Amino acid sequence: MSDELYGRAVAIAERAYAPYSKYLVGAAVRARDGRVFEGVNVENAAYPLGICAERTAISAAVTAGYGPGDLEAIGITASPCGGCRQWLYEFRVDRVTFRNRDGDLVSYTPAELLPDTWDLD
Ligand code: THU
Repeated sequence: MSDELYGRAVAIAERAYAPYSKYLVGAAVRARDGRVFEGVNVENAAYPLGICAERTAISAAVTAGYGPGDLEAIGITASPCGGCRQWLYEFRVDRVTFRNRDGDLVSYTPAELLPDTWDLD
């Protein structure tokens, strides 16, 4: 199942808009009801305004009515950045799968990716 989402992420990555970094990233997140939302990184000439693939995928799910606790798994073509790890924690995605630097497909919980996470509670 994780491999399937990772495959979706790889396929969608070609739609990334990354003319500055040329680093194409794709993500695919699956809700508990089976719906899958895809995302890509979208950059901007004002560099800090770019958004990561994970956050566009989660934003697509939120736009369709899903929220924290509704998302069971995400596949990403890159190791998630620190800010995206905070998003994955916020939305309580059960399982986060990506290919690590050694080339292995690995899965973690958001808490494993961001221990002792800050939140408002
Ligand atoms: N990027 C992502 O889309 N997800 C990550 O978690 C890592 C970084 C994007 C942002 C930027 O467009 C490009 O990769 C290079 O950093």
